[in-house]
Amino acid sequence: MKQDIFRGENPVKIVAIGAGNRTNKYLEYARIHPDRLQLVGVVEVNTNRMQHIAEEFGLDRSHCFCDYDDFFAHSFPADAVLIATPEDIHYDPCIKAIDAGYHVLLEKPIAQNLAECNDIAEHAKRKGVLVCVCHVLRYHPYFLKIKEVVDSGKLGKIISINHIASVGLDRTMHGFVRGLWRKEKLTNPMLIAKCCHDVDLLLWLTKTACRRLSSFGSLRWFRSENAPEGSSERCFNCSIETECPYSAVDLYYNRRSWISNFDIPVGKTLDDVLMEELRHGVYGRCVFHCDNDVVDHQVLSMEMADEVTINLSMDIFTNDDYRETHIKLTHGEIDGNEKHLRVRKFRSNEEQVFDFSDISNKPFHAGADLNLVDHFVKALSNKEYELQTSIENSVESHRICYEAERSRLTGKIIELNSSDQIHKK
Ligand SMILES: NC(=O)c1ccc[n+]([C@@H]2O[C@H](COP(=O)([O-])OP(=O)(O)OC[C@H]3O[C@@H](n4cnc5c(N)ncnc54)[C@H](O)[C@@H]3O)[C@@H](O)[C@H]2O)c1
Repeated sequence: MKQDIFRGENPVKIVAIGAGNRTNKYLEYARIHPDRLQLVGVVEVNTNRMQHIAEEFGLDRSHCFCDYDDFFAHSFPADAVLIATPEDIHYDPCIKAIDAGYHVLLEKPIAQNLAECNDIAEHAKRKGVLVCVCHVLRYHPYFLKIKEVVDSGKLGKIISINHIASVGLDRTMHGFVRGLWRKEKLTNPMLIAKCCHDVDLLLWLTKTACRRLSSFGSLRWFRSENAPEGSSERCFNCSIETECPYSAVDLYYNRRSWISNFDIPVGKTLDDVLMEELRHGVYGRCVFHCDNDVVDHQVLSMEMADEVTINLSMDIFTNDDYRETHIKLTHGEIDGNEKHLRVRKFRSNEEQVFDFSDISNKPFHAGADLNLVDHFVKALSNKEYELQTSIENSVESHRICYEAERSRLTGKIIELNSSDQIHKK
């Protein structure tokens, strides 16, 4: 089945379902390489965003849809769809895309529970189409270097890993307290929403299955009972706004952070939009008076099939948004923070430091977004080319996150029956 769709020299034709932040990032590839990837249609409920994309890529009105069911009702000539909608709108369009025979570039998390994730993998297998989950870390130069050093074998075997995913306060307040990812029901538990990438990375590095795990965490701070005296429900009229580290006025209005997420309708200015949001929108709310329920800190401990132990800590109370990884191997250690990566070999003076500081804050996840699309396009264009990972691998990292959530809620150690056949790449 897969053979039928190889594009050879022709550009891969893709339809975007959801034309928000992530789609715009991935479409940069089509802007740079129109000979390799061509946007041929868009499905978007937000008409401003739809028009914007349609104009930029010269799409005919008949190629623009507000409802993905209308899109699937046409047998539209495309090779693939990109699904970058909110998490509660992944499963249904993904199953419909697979059943219609499209390959899928699917934003993470795959879906909203393990049964849905498995269902997508089974449908894809039956239909013979590729579903590539956007685990961008696998395509990131810094993480690829870690992988290269581990796989070279020169430091021996991995014994243990400590990995910290520092989400950072700004990202947390915008996404996980006030915004799209604040409620499990709308999206997923936070470990899945944020750290399915990290678990995927850890499985990719260790190439082994998780045997058992335990997890702890809670929503400790951003709850109404912690609201300081004198605070208001909205930051714009709060008496302690100027001293509050969580102020929406400071985040959006003063510092102009995360503002690319706000649409500016014709006839309005950015300031109009920000003031409106601060007065009436979800992003103007006090962090102690939101309807959030996802955790604000969580740890996960894993014992792998070959006795490797892994600690993953998801922290939000950090100034910056980055990952720190320390890998202890039988003959050396690797540690890094996305800016620098240090590789040391025991009983030698051998120490290498790789400097990634010039790319660590670069857009498109330091180029990883574009590398990911490049892999996807090549896998559709060339019979010999294989994706870095499979939907089965992605489901396994999601399964670990869902089991971690079960452990967190029950306080139990969870034993897993895992296949050692996966994550060998
Ligand atoms: N891989 C990564 O590193 C990474 C990073 C951030 C977000 N994400 C994931 O990407 C996905 C999208 O996130 P985003 O930041 O682009 O969000 P976004 O809100 O910027 O974009 C989502 C778009 O989907 C549209 N939409 C909503 N319902 C729709 C529907 N029924 N049909 C068509 N369009 C619809 C919205 O109007 C919006 O434009 C989420 O699942 C998120 O978790 C992944």
